[in-house]
This record gives sequence, structure tokens and C-alpha cells, in this order.
Amino acid sequence: MSVLPEGFQTLQFQHDLISWFQSEKRDLPWRKDQDPYKVWVSEIMLQQTRVETVIPYFYHFMEKFPTLHHLADADEQEVLKAWEGLGYYSRARNLQSAVREVKSEYGGTVPNNPKELGSLKGVGPYTKGAILSIAFDQPEPAVDGNVMRVISRILSNEDDIAKPKTRKIIEEKVSELISREDPSSFNQGLMELGALICKPKNPSCMLCPVQQHCIAYREGVETTLPIKTNAKKQRTVPYTVLLIKNAEGHVLVQKREEKGLLANLWVFPMIPLQDVDLTNVPHWFYGEYGLQIEIGDKAKDVKHIFSHLTWELEAFEANLLDGQLDHDRAKFVNIDELETLPFPVSHQKLKTYLLSH
Ligand code: ADE
Repeated sequence: MSVLPEGFQTLQFQHDLISWFQSEKRDLPWRKDQDPYKVWVSEIMLQQTRVETVIPYFYHFMEKFPTLHHLADADEQEVLKAWEGLGYYSRARNLQSAVREVKSEYGGTVPNNPKELGSLKGVGPYTKGAILSIAFDQPEPAVDGNVMRVISRILSNEDDIAKPKTRKIIEEKVSELISREDPSSFNQGLMELGALICKPKNPSCMLCPVQQHCIAYREGVETTLPIKTNAKKQRTVPYTVLLIKNAEGHVLVQKREEKGLLANLWVFPMIPLQDVDLTNVPHWFYGEYGLQIEIGDKAKDVKHIFSHLTWELEAFEANLLDGQLDHDRAKFVNIDELETLPFPVSHQKLKTYLLSH
């Protein structure tokens, strides 16, 4: 039983998409060979992140960790440092856990079957399909948000792409559509089409290699598809951040918890604004660290938008007056050490401020 619209010209569609991809594809560093490790790293980096952003990180990462074994044997902090600024840091932590599992359980060879591959940490249905098709030439669907948009339009599908069930529906359609001769070019062609032509806001339908197959275009609904309901609302959390220097000019930094947002990255001390208002408070006992400090000038405001929440950081300079640091994840560091620690983007901005003042 077909899940495709009646009369859909699947073979012609495959041909038109793949020919276009072969002639128009961008020359990207992870397209130079089919090494499953490189495909894997690139697909993880490309989640929620633009190609242009990923390119320099990918080069640097491959220089630092040229093989799966290099990554498996690396220190987690080193991996986070190489990921610094890319965001969604659990991707890096999960990738390293998974690569360590491949080393210990599969002798360092990336599994080429859905079951083993899909059981690795951080390898969801999209990444699994991307690796199987691109590295191993298997006709498996690789459906991310861009592919959902492209397929929703081509087949004029009105399922809400914010619903988890819709990804499964689209995967079934791609499983039927996908070329058995060249699944890699087919999947990458869909991704490339989503990036270059079938864009979210202004699709370039006049340049589209599969325009004659596109049911949404024929019906004039290409810009109203895909349907996506607003799933979640953004929360804004304000913090006071303190850039605390001791007498030697060393700065207090803290490693975040093992789990959760920005796990194991380094930040300057953050105080939820609801807990304390430091405006016009010159001296303060910072109980969490056991330190007496003097609040100085306002340093900088930083706003950072995560996928699900926004941080509003108001940073102040501060000086250590007294007390012995009593905290197992915090320490005073000099400028050189500060540069070696992985910071999230919001606190990199504060670090830059600190280094220039
Ligand atoms: N986005 C996700 N995977 C990609 C790939 N392999 N090439 C280009 N863009 C992508």
C-alpha cells in the first residue's frame, strides 16, 4: 500500500532531485568522503545550526580529533572547548559517550545497522538515517525540520510538524520516495533543497528542480505549508552576574552541574535576581562561596536566547574583600587558565569585557 498521493511520479522525482543535487551541491568539508565518523560529527554539528557556522568548527574538530579513537580518548573538557560557541553542548557530550561505546563495544567501527546505531547516545532517528544513507548507502529516511518542510510542500501534507507523530508520517513517505540506487544523494538532495530553494519564508519555486512534482505549488499553498503550531512559550530569567577579582587579579569561575543546561561548562557566578537585589549594596556576603565582596561598577548586559528560555544577565565588577573560597566547583583562575576553559557564548561576552577592562 502506497502512502503517496495517487499518480505521484516517484522515479522522475528521484531523477530530477538527484541530478540537481549532483550539479548544484555545495562543496562542503564533510562531503569529501564517506567516513562514517566524519558524517556522524557533521550531522551532530548541523542539528539546529547553520552550515556556515558549522564549517570552521568541523575543520577544527577534525584537526583535533581526526579519528573516532582520538575523540574517544580525549578529555571531555577539551571536547567542550572545541564545541565552545556552537551551543547545545549536550550534543558534544553525547557524541563523545557514543564514540566511547563504539570503541568499547564495536572495536571502533561505527555500526551500519539501524538497531545498534540507533541505540547510541544522541543518535536519534534523523542522525541514524543520515549516517546509514550517507556513509553506508542504505535507503533509510533522514527527516529533520528542513526535510519535513520540503516533503510537506511537495506532497501538500497538512499534518502539524510540531507533533512528534508527524515526523513518523513523513519518514514513511520518504521511505517510499527514496532512491534505492543513490539514497545518499537523495537524502542530501532533500536537505540541500530545503537550504537553498525550499526556504521557510520565501521559497524560490521558479528555480526549483522539482517544481513540476510539487503539489503545494500547483495548489498555490507553498507559503502556507508546512503547518506548525506554536508548541512552547519562552521563559525569561534575569540574573545578576559577578565578575569577582581577588587581590592577584584572578577571577572567580564555576563549573556548572554535571546535568542540565550547559552541563560542565564554565560561567561567572550567577545569582537569580529573585534571590537578591544588589543595586546599591556596596558590600555583600556571598554565602554560596563563603566570600565577603565589594560590588563595583556595572559591567555589561547580555541577553541570550536558548531554544526554550532566555537569560537576561546584568553583570557587575566586584572585588574580593575577605573569606576563604568554600565551593567544590568554583575556583579563582588567572587570565591564561581562563582562556583554556569552555564558556557558553553569553559568558564568553563577559570574559571579553573582563579582558578589555
Ligand atoms: N543539514 C543537515 N545535514 C546536512 C548535510 N549533510 N549537508 C548539508 N546540510 C545539512
